Amino acid sequence: MKLAVFGNPIEHSLSPRIHTLFAQQTGVEIEYDKILAPVDGFAETAQNFINQGGKGFNVTVPFKIDAFNLATKHSINAQTAGAVNTIKVDGDALIGENTDGIGLLNDLTKNLEIDLQNKIVLILGAGGATRGILLPLLQQQPARVMIANRTASKATQLAKAFKPYGETCGFGLEKIKNDLVDIIINATSASLDGQMPNIATGIANNAICYDLMYGKQTPFMDWAQDNNASMVVDGLGMLVEQAASAFEFWTGKQPETQAVIEAIRALND
Ligand code: ATR
Repeated sequence: MKLAVFGNPIEHSLSPRIHTLFAQQTGVEIEYDKILAPVDGFAETAQNFINQGGKGFNVTVPFKIDAFNLATKHSINAQTAGAVNTIKVDGDALIGENTDGIGLLNDLTKNLEIDLQNKIVLILGAGGATRGILLPLLQQQPARVMIANRTASKATQLAKAFKPYGETCGFGLEKIKNDLVDIIINATSASLDGQMPNIATGIANNAICYDLMYGKQTPFMDWAQDNNASMVVDGLGMLVEQAASAFEFWTGKQPETQAVIEAIRALND
């Protein structure tokens, strides 16, 4: 099966390694390439790949909205996220899926054994990453999902859009007080710039702190450790879990993720 990941940049993508490990484990034959698409040329590059027999592909920064527009059908996750990270070629149809949220959820619930029901969740950031994880999180019936963002209006808008799926509220980062929360998820892109959102430190006390970033210790993870978080986690498990969900979407085979998470972590250390 001819598969690939598209992005810009793409050189450092771990997806080929992850999917190759899944393929070995499940006995599916795949060829999985990484393809650099020009920033204004995603659709054309993807179409060439399909013309050459491509059966499915992952999509990463900055093409998840382009991929949404390219897809001819959308899963409910893709629809609510407004973004697509996985496409399956099905005859003439291009089915758009978004496995980011389910990847986070599987890491939290399966790997870290965290039960989200009745928990208070605080998400930092109100961009594409937050939009992608909100529906699967809310489906676990947490007591409340609070969205805090540097630009408050984006947080209130997102909270309003997801109200039909559960208890949400949105506000500016400065409104975060030292209240009790169970889980803090850093879904801002601040870690990419080596920064930490400027928020009250007491909120980390006894909370599980999860950064969607992976690959290195982020300022958010340092902050969480310094402020008595009960658990500090990076997004590597989510990366492998979103890949597993994509692999299953294409091949119908569900890979076992634990050994793959360990192998990828060992590569990264
Ligand atoms: P992504 O798709 O990764 O979510 P995005 O849509 O550009 O990227 O959103 C980035 C998010 O990180 C936004 O919520 C942004 O806050 P603003 O909406 O106010 O721009 C947030 N962000 C980026 N850098 C930040 C920083 N240094 N401190 C706090 N929030 C930051």
